Amino acid sequence: MQRAITLALQAQFKTEPNPIVGAVLTDRNGQVLSEGFHEKAGSPHAEVVALRHFETVPEDAILFVTLEPCSHHGKTPPCTDLILKKNVKTVVVGCQDPNPLVSGKGIAALRANGVFVTTGVCESACRNINRVFNKHIVSHLPYLTVKAAVSLDGKIAMASGESQWITGELSRAKGHELRSQHQAIAVGRQTLINDNPRLTDRRSAKGRQPIQIVYASRGDIPFDSFFVKNRQTRRILFAGNGIQPEMVKRLCAEGVEVFIDDRSRPTVLWSLERLYEIGVCSLLIEGGGELIASMIREKVADQLCLFLSGKIIGSSSAISWTGELGIEKLADVPHLSFDHIEKLGDDLMLTCFFPKP
Ligand SMILES: NC(=O)c1ccc[n+]([C@@H]2O[C@H](COP(=O)([O-])OP(=O)(O)OC[C@H]3O[C@@H](n4cnc5c(N)ncnc54)[C@H](OP(=O)(O)O)[C@@H]3O)[C@@H](O)[C@H]2O)c1
Repeated sequence: MQRAITLALQAQFKTEPNPIVGAVLTDRNGQVLSEGFHEKAGSPHAEVVALRHFETVPEDAILFVTLEPCSHHGKTPPCTDLILKKNVKTVVVGCQDPNPLVSGKGIAALRANGVFVTTGVCESACRNINRVFNKHIVSHLPYLTVKAAVSLDGKIAMASGESQWITGELSRAKGHELRSQHQAIAVGRQTLINDNPRLTDRRSAKGRQPIQIVYASRGDIPFDSFFVKNRQTRRILFAGNGIQPEMVKRLCAEGVEVFIDDRSRPTVLWSLERLYEIGVCSLLIEGGGELIASMIREKVADQLCLFLSGKIIGSSSAISWTGELGIEKLADVPHLSFDHIEKLGDDLMLTCFFPKP
């Protein structure tokens, strides 16, 4: 199963909206007979790749697969049918498919046809490699990662708004890696004004660029910003119902798609629903503090990547990465769980998970 997980990870961030899946066929002694993984949406499933060289597999063959085989007709026929056709007698499954519409049905279909199925082998590892899929397939919302570069006292900018650069080069390179792992990147209006970020994945020479998103209730953003001028990339502005038709026209003329909430300020949940509708499964929020505060208040964030510098800004009027949450009791504050910590030059990168709502 470890080998199957390694195979699955070769396609990480390339299979959306599908999960990553690895499969290994062995004999009774653990000798690998063949293997495969799901490369991208529309391409053969891992089981199909692992079984393709066999008319029927040897009598003692065991198929290890990180995720429950599908039993429904999607873009490709059910893998359970193929497993039966190739006469696989033993299947070891890492974790059940979290999709409530199909969960457990693949395992049940195999068992009903006399296949010996063991489940839950390396279960948490098999589940964790598909965090993005697990979130969107159940909630129909994109997986949301919050990223911030902060001083040791949690500030994302000086009181003047100056913020470049709080962290070092290695942290910034890691930030670009995060961009390449998400389908869309978002910032609040004030960050666009202060920083004019390019919001591009500079590591990607020819691959896809993430969709760029700005939250600005009235759409009043600088028209000479990289966001407005970058016609190569899909750009979306989330606005409120107070945006003037003239402003919508000007933005559309620049190729910016404008989505308008029926509230005066677009809520994050509403925007995530719109993003999921257009096929976005993962979103990276790059600040600033006020936008991140909305994500936390609305309890829609999944993961935090905090780049922590040893610098101290030390000003109560400088913005902190969480903005103003307005929580009064300690019992009510969000309590994140630490996943791991990495040293990046002089900085630390903390990866944490938000509590599930
Ligand atoms: N160190 C870092 O990692 C980092 C990263 C990013 C930014 N920054 C710094 O952060 C500062 C800006 O942060 P900020 O907190 O002032 O502003 P921000 O979060 O960038 O933008 C806030 C603005 O976004 C608009 N908005 C629209 N919908 C929203 C919603 N649902 N929730 C929240 N805001 C919404 C609002 O303007 P409307 O009312 O007009 O809609 C709001 O005033 C800059 O100085 C920048 O340099 C630092």
